[in-house]
Amino acid sequence: MNSMKFPSDFLWGAATSAHQVEGNNQLNDWWQWEQAGKTKNVSGAACDHYVRFQEDFDIAKVLNHKAHRFSIEWSRIEPEEGKFNQEAIQHYQEVVRALQARNLEPVITLHHFTNPIWFSSKGGWKQKQAVYFFNRFVTEVVTALAPLGVRYWITINEPMVYLYQGFVIGVWPPGEKSIVSAFRAFRSLLRAHVEAYKTIHQIYQPLNKHPLVGLAKHMLIFSPCRPQSWQDRFVTWMRNFLFNHSLSDAFLIGRMIPFPWVFSKRYLDFWGLNYYTRDFIHFKPSFSRELFGEVCTQTHHRETGERNMMGWEIYPAGLYDCLMALSKFKLPILITENGICTDDDHQRERFIQTHLFMVARAVMEGASVIGYLHWSLLDNFEWHWGFGPRFGLVAVDYQTQKRRIKLSGQMLSRICETGQIEN
Ligand code: FCB
Repeated sequence: MNSMKFPSDFLWGAATSAHQVEGNNQLNDWWQWEQAGKTKNVSGAACDHYVRFQEDFDIAKVLNHKAHRFSIEWSRIEPEEGKFNQEAIQHYQEVVRALQARNLEPVITLHHFTNPIWFSSKGGWKQKQAVYFFNRFVTEVVTALAPLGVRYWITINEPMVYLYQGFVIGVWPPGEKSIVSAFRAFRSLLRAHVEAYKTIHQIYQPLNKHPLVGLAKHMLIFSPCRPQSWQDRFVTWMRNFLFNHSLSDAFLIGRMIPFPWVFSKRYLDFWGLNYYTRDFIHFKPSFSRELFGEVCTQTHHRETGERNMMGWEIYPAGLYDCLMALSKFKLPILITENGICTDDDHQRERFIQTHLFMVARAVMEGASVIGYLHWSLLDNFEWHWGFGPRFGLVAVDYQTQKRRIKLSGQMLSRICETGQIEN
């Protein structure tokens, strides 16, 4: 294949999340975590996007984006249990209108890692009422935004990453290291997705509109460190099953016995796919909380490849593999995140080109990909890593809040304009 043209309605664009860009989200569990000294920097004013969203959407427009993914900050909408802040709701209505005024299709995430402090202090996703609380928030937000004509909703961002970081290795709030807690939270997240799916469809029914409700799934490629070792192959297979496939099974195939409420129906209109990298896994003889081997950090075990500044291998072929694996569910796939943190913008250009080439290849082989949303529009607050890793198509000077479009942003912009990928 030398060149391919994507359809004219392909959703080209970029993604952000509230806590990473908005600034001053003081009422959520991440802010608390940062104040407790658990991160390299505190998020502070971040990109001040809560104030500067219009300016930022002007840039997305200049970059020929057709869609934009952002998240709603639950702790702004419901700062205290059961009390909904009308100003915050109006703010997000303005955000949606600002996107639509620029012909950018809004793709809205309802949960992107952060929780209001009142919710986390009651037990967060482990508590019995978690699903009820989340669904009440979803009802409030969707009732306010559905009449504006929002079509794409993502209930939960990367449940497995959230559980792994927050409940297994404990580097994110709530900072637990317990498989039992992880399992309880997993159950709540699954049910929360199902309830949110039903709620959103119910709200749209009288409006005579059809929302598309998805979930953003992070997929990783796992390879055994020593392919000749059956133990390495086994732990790699288990990781792949648990991280990449258990959710799909629960939602779509319904094979997972503990979740009877997901048996009868598909609660998903499209898959959101977040793809970044590949991990090498080896068996660990001693007991480990990670249960299934560990991620190999020894370079002599690893195949050499380019890496981003957080050490993640750049492995474009993995995007093709994930798209083909998801294709078996016969649902549309929206790439909701794909990107690289690097200070070398030429590396980002190569990253975009090589990954889009893989998308084109998957599409030619039948994957029904409806869009590509690059992570991220802006450099932003990368969770426990702080502001070091820069993922943006647009650079942000955190002192002055000045924005500067990177060359890679311009390169992607030409592809968004023409829909044409050249090998
Ligand atoms: C994803 C997260 C996103 C961002 C990127 C780099 O796992 O969804 O918020 O941090 O990684």
